[in-house]
Amino acid sequence: MQQFQYFTPTKVVFGKDTESQVGKLVREQKAKKVLIHYGGGSAKRSGLLDRVEASLKAEGISYVTLGGAVPNPRLSKVYEGIELGKKEGVDFILAVGGGSAIDSAKGIGYGLCYEGDVWDFYLKKCLPQACVPLGVVLTMAATGSEMSDSSVITNEEGWLKRSTKSDLGRPKFAILNPELTYTLPEYQTMCGCVDIMMHTMERYFSHEKDTELVDAIAEGLLRTMIHNAKILLTDPCNYEARSEVMWAGSLSHNGLTGCGRTGDWACHQLEHELGGMFDVAHGAGLAAVWGSWARYVYQEDVSRFVQFAVHVMGVKENPEKPEETALAGIEALEEFFRSIHMPVSISEMGENLTEEQIGELAYKCSFMDTRTIGGFRKLDREDMAKIYRMAR
Ligand code: NZQ
Ligand code: ZN
Repeated sequence: MQQFQYFTPTKVVFGKDTESQVGKLVREQKAKKVLIHYGGGSAKRSGLLDRVEASLKAEGISYVTLGGAVPNPRLSKVYEGIELGKKEGVDFILAVGGGSAIDSAKGIGYGLCYEGDVWDFYLKKCLPQACVPLGVVLTMAATGSEMSDSSVITNEEGWLKRSTKSDLGRPKFAILNPELTYTLPEYQTMCGCVDIMMHTMERYFSHEKDTELVDAIAEGLLRTMIHNAKILLTDPCNYEARSEVMWAGSLSHNGLTGCGRTGDWACHQLEHELGGMFDVAHGAGLAAVWGSWARYVYQEDVSRFVQFAVHVMGVKENPEKPEETALAGIEALEEFFRSIHMPVSISEMGENLTEEQIGELAYKCSFMDTRTIGGFRKLDREDMAKIYRMAR
């Protein structure tokens, strides 16, 4: 096991009706003026926003609201939030929504503490030095942004989707009420399930051998996800299944399943370009590229893919032919993705990539040919193009 740091400062408040505690939780943070940031309107339509505002009022906390964080949240909205936050003297940001509202809130939080252009952090020109404290009322189990150190923003100029990471952006608290996810369309629920699984798999496909406990946690999380995603297909208001998925979402991306090893993250990098250029849903984009990535890299360490096939996908091992077992595991996960109505190719998302677009995706994903991606197998611009081609 490699050296590691594990830092999860987020207070999790889990269960039915927990959003009614939001006022008290904000008060604990000694906030005076809150910016409530939300998405395109689902939180308004469901009445959640009204309940959140009532809870703040009951504690005598003043607030302003800013909606409009879209999936693949835009830099222009972050700028709008920074301007509003400065004008209103905001000292706390409350994100009400999914990963997009949370990531946009993190961007606003960084921008409020920085004299320069907040995009500098996403271009990795420098690291955030401070962030306005954040809280979250989560409405979608997917990104794990409610406990993670990341924020992913899309710059409309050039349609670049980029991330920044800092412990300063980890929310102070996250309210997780699984009932709030009942109103999600099936497609978004399943996109979330894929994203949750991928956050663990990106960490699982690693060359570090001595991670028995972390492997067991990761494999258990993945099996739990497969089991409960299937339940939600036919029974979307099943509280226990929603609960398992929601808690898995937070644990999948708070660092737990990556302790002691170096992750891969190539699929996320490949997907981010698809999200930036074509505005596809993040989880769907991940499902569309994973199988192609896996077939491209599995020979780097066949035994790792055999372990995944047997421990996670329930494939019967053929000790004589490890490659056969490894490939059967890849096929089994793709079959699972199909069964939850997720795409396993880019064309299934309605995008028929031209050679020119493949070139552009690979160019952008390699940061204009200045970086490689992938911890399991290092991939350069040419490899990226080959995987996009396989996945198309
Ligand atoms: O905007 P509203 O109206 O709320 O609608 C949203 C949106 O259309 C809807 N929705 C959310 N909760 C709902 C609901 N509809 C009905 N009922 C509810 N309870 O679902 C749609 C998707 O929401 P969004 O927040 O975009 O989804 P998600 O949570 O998947 O976030 C995706 C973004 O997060 C980034 C992704 O790249 C993408 O930009 N990620 C962030 C990460 C992080 N910060 O740690 C890690 C991830 O790997 C990921 O990259
Ligand atoms: Zn993700």
